[in-house]
Amino acid sequence: MDLHLRDKVAIVGGASQGIGFAVARTLAEEGVKVVITARREAPLNAAAETVREKTGGSVLAVPSDVRRAEDCVRVVDGAVKTFGRIDILINNDGAPPLGKIEDFDDAAWDKAVQQNLYSVIRMVRQTVPHMKAVGGGRIVNITAVSARQPLVGLGLSVATWAGVLGYAKTLSLELGPAGITVNTICPGRIDTGRLELVTRKRAEQLGQDPDKMMQELLHEVPLRRLGTPDDVAGLVALLVSPRGAFITGTAIQVDGGLLRSVY
Ligand SMILES: NC(=O)c1ccc[n+]([C@@H]2O[C@H](COP(=O)([O-])OP(=O)(O)OC[C@H]3O[C@@H](n4cnc5c(N)ncnc54)[C@H](OP(=O)(O)O)[C@@H]3O)[C@@H](O)[C@H]2O)c1
Repeated sequence: MDLHLRDKVAIVGGASQGIGFAVARTLAEEGVKVVITARREAPLNAAAETVREKTGGSVLAVPSDVRRAEDCVRVVDGAVKTFGRIDILINNDGAPPLGKIEDFDDAAWDKAVQQNLYSVIRMVRQTVPHMKAVGGGRIVNITAVSARQPLVGLGLSVATWAGVLGYAKTLSLELGPAGITVNTICPGRIDTGRLELVTRKRAEQLGQDPDKMMQELLHEVPLRRLGTPDDVAGLVALLVSPRGAFITGTAIQVDGGLLRSVY
């Protein structure tokens, strides 16, 4: 199916691996010119080369830390200078550390807010004028299903991503008249290196057996498998394409049915 995305320009955060990489590759397959970011230059450049090889697409790699305001400006400037426009923004990166809420001080909270919430605010502020200049755009935020069904030990992420959900909903109301859609994806358990890392750390902190916790991950998912980065990338591609044009203000989980909630 042609998603009619050829020659659109997208910024995809955290794209040297995992979900962000799958999103960048999927969009490039659709003919989108992609600007990819991550902090470590070597893996980012390697990811850019892989996407070029696999898709023949145009890829610009901009090493940057989403927690730094000046880096956000540099990414957007680079995108406009190289490709001349911005149509799509995918807010995605890593996440703050795990631990009990009572153990985190102001410095930890500051970092978490910079990483999960402020990064989105800054990237949106930088890109929206460029989207308005081309008559519309698409913003997709990657958070987690735990923002809607909190988990012990993930307080920094849960609290800051819940902020993203409120921010994104309000933004969708304000940007709708300009033809810009804003949606948030809440992945469940997606098979990236990060999942095993986080699960083993949670088990350690909760005093549980890490191997048992890894096995239990599957049993709680009604579809009885972990998600793949491509499961998330497929929804992103739909949301940013003309086929997703009437979808805005949503928070959609990609979780194999994990979320225990009617709404
Ligand atoms: N995997 C899951 O099961 C799952 C479930 C729910 C939600 N999520 C969320 O989805 C997002 C992506 O997850 P993932 O599994 O794909 O993670 P991942 O494999 O660890 O990839 C994270 C990417 O973000 C980059 N990154 C991290 N911190 C950054 C920063 N400060 N500035 C710029 N780039 C940064 C990393 O590269 P550098 O380290 O080089 O910067 C990497 O490219 C995360 O926010 C994660 O919490 C994941």
